[in-house]
Formats: sequence, structure tokens, C-alpha cells
Amino acid sequence: MDSENRAPSYFRNWISVIGIIFSIIMFVTIASLFLLDFLFKVDNPYLGIVTYMVAPAFLIFSLILILVGAWIERTQRHKRGYVRRFPVIDFNNPTHQKWMYTAWGVITMFLLFSAIGIYRVYNFTESNTFCGRICHTVMKPEYTVYHNSSHARVTCVQCHIGHGAEWYVRSKLSGAYQVYSVLANRFSRPIETPIKNLRPAQETCEQCHWPQQFYGAVEQDHHYFLPDETNTQWKTRMLMFVGGGTPPYGKREGIHWHMNISNKVYYIATDEKRQTIPWVRRIGMDGKEEIFVDEESGYTAQNPPKGELRTMDCMDCHNRPSHIFKSPTDAVNEAMTSGTISASLPYIKREAVKALVGKYASDEEGVKKIQNSLEGFYQKKYPLIWSGQKDKIDQAIKTIVGLYQMNFYPEMNVSWKVYPENIGHFISPGCFRCHSGRHKTADGRMIATDCTSCHAIIAQGAPGAMETKVEGLEFKHPDQAVGEAWKDMPCFDCHTGDIA
Ligand code: HEC
Ligand code: HEC
Ligand code: HEC
Ligand code: HEC
Ligand code: HEC
Ligand code: HEC
Repeated sequence: MDSENRAPSYFRNWISVIGIIFSIIMFVTIASLFLLDFLFKVDNPYLGIVTYMVAPAFLIFSLILILVGAWIERTQRHKRGYVRRFPVIDFNNPTHQKWMYTAWGVITMFLLFSAIGIYRVYNFTESNTFCGRICHTVMKPEYTVYHNSSHARVTCVQCHIGHGAEWYVRSKLSGAYQVYSVLANRFSRPIETPIKNLRPAQETCEQCHWPQQFYGAVEQDHHYFLPDETNTQWKTRMLMFVGGGTPPYGKREGIHWHMNISNKVYYIATDEKRQTIPWVRRIGMDGKEEIFVDEESGYTAQNPPKGELRTMDCMDCHNRPSHIFKSPTDAVNEAMTSGTISASLPYIKREAVKALVGKYASDEEGVKKIQNSLEGFYQKKYPLIWSGQKDKIDQAIKTIVGLYQMNFYPEMNVSWKVYPENIGHFISPGCFRCHSGRHKTADGRMIATDCTSCHAIIAQGAPGAMETKVEGLEFKHPDQAVGEAWKDMPCFDCHTGDIA
């Protein structure tokens, strides 16, 4: 073919040229970021977004630009009267053959890279980095404490999404709305729970935990410090009856009795947080149905409250398997037990809790005021200890600041108070939402409340002077002044996570 009388390529126009330049730049950028990600495993959420979402979008845009330029050029030439519309391709022509092979190669490469790219996008949007670190402020509380939980090796999506295309798509649709609400600054602080569309536990938790396996009892040790000058110690050792999965294994009436294997429990809550549960239905193995109603609520078996009828599953008790925001008393007790806060400092339990529960506008303010309040206290009240045991005080303050940063997030209004834990009955109703002593059938049968239905206290008392009994002891309150008040009042009426 004679190049002299061949029309110049349609791609010779400014739009296409810009498109070509940008495509090359984007291609090189993506290729280098790709290598960076593969070779060095850089853990930066923004790198992922740029490599697998933003840059490919620009590349596709640039490629479209090339075609648009050519299209405009062609239309204009057509108007000016060019006759030839489409190039004639002749496979016997060696030049055309060469072009064909090149085009074929480029298209194959493009498809291959797109496939890898799409796969990487899929993986990336399922990663902890994507879930936890993109919306930095929003997810910071959950992301931080998650790393401290027994599920730190379980990915966010294993609990929040689970297997299957349907839930993947659903999660991305709601995810798109979440991205919008973050960009538009319309998300609630704190994030509302319970999560309305959380996938049922059968398809998440039970992929790893085998419900039938629960039997026998597990031992728990609780170590407490009273808020007095000597931080008086108290220990309680208990056996939790975690059985109940299947009758052949141990005690049938254990805690995991509720788990839909031999029994089903349904309930209706009258508040958003599912903390008030006046109406409970149980269907036993034999198909027998019983309805328990809170006798003070005014509802009856036939006249239930309005609201969603929920089937009880793991999350109704284990609502904090991974995002545990500890109460100040729990957090300080644990640190004192491990020795990172020295129990020999006078009033350290009381002062640490007091400092942690203060209202602070930001993380920095909290850290500073906690330091000031504790330093001020020892400087003023115990000058000898302040001068003689400064290193112990410094170590304690460092630990308390750490506890604050782990469990309190003023920017999101997150603390133990907004996310009540449903395991137990110490500082929130938990089990006592139903095991209240008021939930009864029409003929007066009550959901169990005696202290030994769920656990047995096998030892309690001051360390070194503990009374023990394998069959179980009656609970003794650590603060003698409280006496037997716990028999008439639930613990959470006095205990809130602060000093009672
Ligand atoms: C072991 C399972 C599990 C894992 C792993 C997990 N979550 Fe959760 N997450 C839950 C449960 C259960 C809830 C509470 C649901 C409720 O109360 O409705 C929750 C609640 C949340 C909430 C709502 C606010 C709150 O504190 O209740 C956010 C946000 C969240 N998770 C983010 C994450 C992120 C980000 C990751 C990964 C870094 C993650 N989750 C990993 C089980 C899990
Ligand atoms: C991908 C697997 C996986 C999934 C999904 C999972 N877990 Fe776990 N879970 C584990 C493993 C492994 C452990 C033991 C961790 C250890 O002991 O260090 C564990 C421990 C636990 C414990 C005991 C430890 C503790 O902190 O008291 C509870 C309770 C628990 N899981 C509840 C749940 C609940 C509820 C869900 C669903 C929201 C869930 N798990 C989802 C793997 C999983
Ligand atoms: C009625 C409330 C309740 C329900 C429902 C429930 N659990 Fe538990 N579970 C408990 C309590 C209470 C404990 C013991 C105390 C603790 O772990 O803090 C426990 C302990 C556990 C443990 C640790 C047991 C051990 O041997 O150390 C695992 C794991 C667990 N539950 C998983 C699950 C899973 C998975 C489900 C759903 C299939 C579930 N639980 C449903 C209340 C419940
Ligand atoms: C939604 C209501 C509800 C909640 C919340 C609840 N339970 Fe239950 N539980 C029941 C019902 C209903 C029964 C069956 C009562 C009956 O038939 O006597 C039951 C029975 C039990 C039993 C068997 C008692 C026996 O010996 O008869 C144990 C153990 C138990 N629950 C432990 C717990 C623990 C521990 C928690 C908190 C982690 C808890 N439950 C939270 C409704 C609930
Ligand atoms: C419906 C079951 C149930 C009943 C009834 C029950 N408990 Fe508990 N108790 C629990 C669970 C679950 C926990 C939480 C264990 C944990 O922290 O994992 C708990 C925790 C405790 C603790 C440790 C508190 C802490 O967190 O440090 C004490 C002490 C205790 N119970 C005493 C009692 C006494 C006294 C009674 C009788 C008035 C009683 N319990 C009745 C289920 C029950
Ligand atoms: C009438 C109010 C009242 C009731 C009810 C009550 N307590 Fe207490 N409790 C106190 C006071 C006051 C203290 C000493 C101050 C403090 O530590 O909060 C205390 C201290 C404690 C402590 C040691 C301090 C800590 O929190 O580490 C434990 C543990 C405790 N109580 C457990 C329980 C349990 C479990 C129940 C329910 C079975 C219960 N209390 C019921 C008032 C009460």
C-alpha cells in the first residue's frame, strides 16, 4: 500500500492522543503498583483503592477517550466528504497479519489483567483492611478492639457476611450506602446496634463452632479489687455449665440448651437494643409449647407486644464476640491482676476508675486529663510515695492511658455503656432479660433464676484465705457492707461498670 495516498489514521486527533498518553501513564502506574503490592505486601488501604479501583477506572476512561477521539474524527471527515468508511483487512497482507497478531496479543493481555484485577478487587473488598481502615474514624473502635479478641484471626467478613454470592452482593449494596453516609457525614455516632440485617448465626458462627460440641463445664477465675485504700482483694472461682448441645453429652440443662438443637426459643423485645424482653416462647423437643410473660409488663401469652418475633441464636447472648469495650472496673481489675498496675499504690483502683469514666471531648484531651488527675492525686495526697515510687506511678499511669485508648472512643461516642454485653448479669441485664424471676407461664412456672442453674461458685474469698467446696458455695458479696442485698436486687441495679 502506498502511504502517500493513504488517509491519516483516525487516531490522529488531539483527544485520542491525550487518551493514548494517559493510557500509557495509567498502565505503567498500575503495573508498578501491582508489583509493589505483590512483592512488598504493603499494608496500606489507600494503595489498594488506587491500584484496584481508581487507576483502572482512569485507564478505562483513557481508553474510551481514544475511541471517542477517533469517532469524532471519523464523523468530521465523513462530513467533509471522505468516502472510505472502514479499513479493508486483508489476511494475506503481511502488514495486516502483523497488526492482527499485535491486536490479539494486546486484547488477551488486557483480558488477563482485567481478570486478575477483578479477582484482586473482590479479595480486597473482602479484606480486613478494606472493612476496618478505609473509614478510619467510623470503624476505629471495632477495628482496634477486634485485634485484642479471641477472634483476631477471623476476618470481618467471616462474621459479617459469610459465604455465597447473594450475601456478597447484599453487603456491597449496603456498603455503597455506608460509603455515601460517610462521605456525606451522615453516619450515626455510635453506630447503631443490633445490626438489623446481620446474617443468622447458623451461616456464620456455626461454620466454625459446632453447636453439638458443647458439654460439661468450664472454669472461670475472677479477681477483684475493692475501691478502698488498700485495694482489698477478692477472688471468685466458678464453673460455668456450658453444656446443652445434645443430650448424649453431659448435662442437658446447660447454658447452650437454647441453641435450637433440642429446643427453640423465640422472643419479642420492646426496645431497639433488645434489652427489654417481656414475651418468650419455647418449643421443646417433644413439640410442646410454653409461653413465659413478664408479669409486670401487662402483656399476656395471647396478647404479645408488637414487634419482630426473633429466633434466639448465638448473637442474642454473644453479642460482643469480637468488639469488647471493657467497663472501667473490669479493665482495671484485669490490669491489677496482671500487675501492670501495682496493687500496692493506695486507692489506685478507685482513682483509675474515676479517671477513666471522666467525660472527654477527644482522645488527646482524655489522655492528658487522665495523666493530670492521677499525678495530681499522688503528688497532693501521698507525697512520699510520689517521690519514692515514681516509677510505679508512671507505669500505672501508662497502663491506664492504654486502657483508655483501647476501650474509649470519644469521636464515635463509643464506650462500654453504649454496647451492653449480653453474657452475664453483672453490669447489664444480659441473661436476666428473661431469667428475671418475673417471666412466668400462665400456670406460674418460671424461667430459672437460682444462682446454681448457670454456674457453681467452687471457691471464693481473699487470696490465701479462700473457702472452697466442689458442690458449690452460696455467693458472698466482696464488700461486707453490702451484706445480703444481692438476694433482693439484681447486681446491675447497683453495678454499672463504674464504682457502685
Ligand atoms: C467473631 C465474629 C466477628 C468478627 C470477626 C467481626 N465482627 Fe463486627 N460484629 C460482630 C457482632 C456479633 C456484632 C454485634 C451485632 C449486634 O449487636 O447486632 C458486630 C458489630 C460490629 C459493628 C457495629 C458496632 C458495634 O460495635 O457493635 C461494626 C462497625 C463492626 N462489627 C465492624 C467489624 C470490623 C471492621 C471487623 C473486622 C476488623 C469485624 N467487625 C469483625 C461479630 C464480628
Ligand atoms: C472463622 C472461624 C470462626 C468464626 C466464623 C467464629 N468463631 Fe468463635 N472462635 C473461633 C476460634 C478459632 C476460637 C478460639 C480462639 C482462642 O481460643 O484463641 C473462637 C472462640 C470463641 C469463643 C470463646 C472465646 C471467648 O472469647 O470467650 C466464643 C464465645 C465464640 N468464639 C463465639 C463466636 C460467635 C458468637 C461467632 C459468630 C458471631 C463466632 N464465634 C464466629 C473461630 C470462629
Ligand atoms: C443463652 C445464651 C447463649 C447462647 C444462645 C449461646 N451461648 Fe455460647 N456461651 C454462653 C455462656 C454464658 C458461655 C460461658 C461464659 C463465657 O464464655 O463468657 C458460653 C460459652 C461459649 C463458648 C466457649 C465455650 C468453652 O468451652 O470455652 C463458645 C465457643 C460459645 N459459647 C459459642 C457459642 C455459639 C457458636 C453459639 C450459637 C450456636 C452460642 N455460643 C450460643 C451463652 C450462650
Ligand atoms: C430470650 C430469653 C432468654 C435469654 C436472654 C436467656 N435465656 Fe436461658 N432460658 C430461656 C428459656 C425460655 C428457658 C427455658 C425455661 C424452662 O423451660 O424452664 C431457659 C433455660 C435456661 C437454662 C436451663 C435452666 C434449667 O435448668 O431449666 C439455662 C442454664 C439458661 N437458660 C442459661 C442462660 C444464660 C446463661 C443466659 C445468658 C447468657 C440466658 N439463659 C439467657 C430464655 C432465655
Ligand atoms: C441465667 C443464668 C445465670 C443465673 C441465674 C445467675 N448467673 Fe451469675 N453469671 C451468669 C453468666 C453467664 C455470667 C458471666 C460469666 C462471664 O463473665 O463470662 C455470670 C457471672 C456471675 C459472676 C461474676 C461476675 C463478673 O463478671 O465478674 C458472679 C459473682 C455471679 N454470676 C453470681 C451470681 C449469683 C449470686 C446469682 C444468683 C443471685 C447468679 N449469678 C445467677 C449466669 C447466671
Ligand atoms: C445494693 C447494691 C449492690 C448490689 C445489689 C450488689 N453489689 Fe456488688 N458492690 C456494691 C458496692 C457498694 C461495692 C463496693 C464499691 C465497688 O467496688 O463498686 C461492691 C463491690 C463489688 C465487687 C468488687 C468490686 C469490683 O467491682 O471489682 C464485686 C465483684 C461485686 N460487688 C459483685 C456483685 C455481684 C456479683 C452482685 C450480684 C449478685 C452484686 N455485687 C450486687 C454494691 C452492690
